[in-house]
Amino acid sequence: MDKPKQVSELSDEEIKDEVRRAYARVAMARRGSCCDKDTSCSTDSLAARLGYDVEDIPASVTESFAGCGNPTALASLQEGEIVLDLGSGAGLDVFLAARAVGETGFVIGVDMTSEMLQKARDNAIKLGITNVEFRQGDIEALPVEDNSVDVIISNCVINLAPDKAKVFQEAFRVLRPGGRLLVSDMVLVGELPEEIKESIRSYTGCVAGAIPETEYLQLLQEAGFEKVEVLERSGSSAVISAKIKAIKPAT
Ligand SMILES: C[S@@+](CC[C@H](N)C(=O)[O-])C[C@H]1O[C@@H](n2cnc3c(N)ncnc32)[C@H](O)[C@@H]1O
Repeated sequence: MDKPKQVSELSDEEIKDEVRRAYARVAMARRGSCCDKDTSCSTDSLAARLGYDVEDIPASVTESFAGCGNPTALASLQEGEIVLDLGSGAGLDVFLAARAVGETGFVIGVDMTSEMLQKARDNAIKLGITNVEFRQGDIEALPVEDNSVDVIISNCVINLAPDKAKVFQEAFRVLRPGGRLLVSDMVLVGELPEEIKESIRSYTGCVAGAIPETEYLQLLQEAGFEKVEVLERSGSSAVISAKIKAIKPAT
């Protein structure tokens, strides 16, 4: 059998194809890829451990959950707000946000993996939630209008994007002035061993694509965000989960 290519040998599009393949498998196999490094991880208990109240959420939503935090809880969502979830997966954060913003609000989930989108759309019907829409697209080129969103959330996704500067530029473009971004994501606070950095399985498992926390914050600032801050960090290895907030200036 051919040896898998190293991450540094792959183009950005080839990396995205690998990510799509990995999350298509997650959608079908009902296990979060970002949990692969944690052998005790069932996705229901992962959501509960991250502070989600999932009692009345069907297993078809939680079984493919692959987050590393709880950005919806952080976002202090208000009735009537328009929310965008970058890399919405099977839809857990979208559905919780939809409840929080109520019937006068609306939540858009964007994901590039067809199997995840199908699962999220089926879940919306199952839950009878109508103030949501799942759009297929790349978070590096969002299928969303300029200045149209109050809040952006994202859970363990931006680390998977090869061009993080583009993701933040796109987030800035679609947020309305004064809008906020709240993401949970994996960031580096130490050095990864070379074989981990070069492993595509480690990349799709939300490790090898992580960039240093300082670089992450700098890219947000370079995109135009202000009040960029880390609200919380968890984990004790070279790659940790961080909750990050940023604001698009009001004028
Ligand atoms: C680790 S999962 C997280 C899913 C969801 N946020 C959750 O918490 O369960 C990553 C998701 O991001 C999507 N994704 C990764 N890179 C993407 C990109 N460049 N554009 C759109 N979606 C992407 C994958 O298809 C997958 O559904």
